[in-house]
Amino acid sequence: MNIGIDKISFYTSHYYVDLKTLAEARSVDADKYYVGIGQEKMGIPAPDEDVVTLGGSAAYPLMKDGELDDVELLLFATESGIDQSKSAGIYVHGLLEMSSRCRSVELKQACYSGTAGIQMAIGFVARNPTKKALVICSDIARYELGSPGEATQGCGSVAILISANPRIMAIDPESGYYTEDVMDFWRPNYRSEALVDGKYSTMVYIHALLESWKQYAELSGRALTDFDRFCYHIPFTKMAEKAHKKLCRKCKVETSAEQMQLLLDESLRYSRKTGNCYSGSMYVGLTSLLDTADEDLANKRVGLYSYGSGCVGEFFSGVVQPGYREHLYTDQHRNMLENRSELTYQQYEDIYNYGVPTDGGEYVFPQYKTGPFRFSGISQHKREYESLVD
Ligand code: HMG
Repeated sequence: MNIGIDKISFYTSHYYVDLKTLAEARSVDADKYYVGIGQEKMGIPAPDEDVVTLGGSAAYPLMKDGELDDVELLLFATESGIDQSKSAGIYVHGLLEMSSRCRSVELKQACYSGTAGIQMAIGFVARNPTKKALVICSDIARYELGSPGEATQGCGSVAILISANPRIMAIDPESGYYTEDVMDFWRPNYRSEALVDGKYSTMVYIHALLESWKQYAELSGRALTDFDRFCYHIPFTKMAEKAHKKLCRKCKVETSAEQMQLLLDESLRYSRKTGNCYSGSMYVGLTSLLDTADEDLANKRVGLYSYGSGCVGEFFSGVVQPGYREHLYTDQHRNMLENRSELTYQQYEDIYNYGVPTDGGEYVFPQYKTGPFRFSGISQHKREYESLVD
């Protein structure tokens, strides 16, 4: 029995900053961002959005299509959690009016936890083949103003339905995974911005890739040349390109610039416009690949590398299913990305500094443009969400 991705839907906020604007404010050559790190825009969440509204918005098209009826497991992957106790997934479960016969839990391991969720969901479906699992990866990437990481900020969420006989991608059983206790990127509970040892983090990302690949190759017997496309965790698109070059060198596979472009480029298109979505980044890449590849990818094998600082890496793979295009939300994704509003530098800084109040007071938040759900206020220490759809 094949198990894998039955549906995949992506959402990012309505607002973005063009990195030309940031470059001007920071007196940096814009090509450092456009070319050097390979990013054009960063998605900025409105003050009335958080990981719950982002995640709910990503999963909403699935709800509308009646795809959530058999879901009995909801895994919410995030490192931008809103509560130390209650899973953000339970708010989304409520907003989406899902069945109460459902297990719900939040997962954390930096950008890796979505992949842990996918693998747990596959285990659940193997045991309950008529049931489905919903994995939501939802994050807001936030660094200090003026820091080297600032240009890699972003936000977004991906909702992934896991089932038997999946319509989009069957996940192969083999996986290589690697854990090591390192401090390349972290966020203590008292901070709203991540701390990062940037250059070191790129080295650990690659080290975990090579280790994960080694195991994967031993277990599967596959070589790098057995893959038609690759999707990497994308903190910034240049990182994915560098990682793939290193892997090719390690495997002694010659790859021309044209081959590199064919293997990677389609998976990087959305991330260039959204920035890092942490737990969702690799799945934004997969959505981008499936939505934008001109070639029919049916029966093609895709190599997937997920990385979360701290750190855990995993290399696994999947085979795209015949007819997959009929089950994508391509038009919705394209419209969303084409109809966003650009922020001035001052608007960006104002939103950045807005912050969610932490004084325990009563608040009603002004309405910005959001998806179907918004974070409308706080009352009696409880977050309040509003549904903008019937
Ligand atoms: P930096 O140190 O300011 O940048 O920040 P730089 O000086 O190294 O320049 C970047 C590149 O731009 C260089 O290219 C420059 O040569 C080039 P490279 O040498 O790397 O090939 N450049 C130019 N190119 C064209 N025209 C120009 C120009 N000027 C310079 N005029 C850094 C870079 C990645 C350190 C920073 O963005 C950062 O700290 N980012 C955050 C950390 C990060 O994203 N790490 C990635 C690996 S860890 C990971 O992926 C996990 C993560 O997602 C978190 C999680 O797991 O939760 C982050």
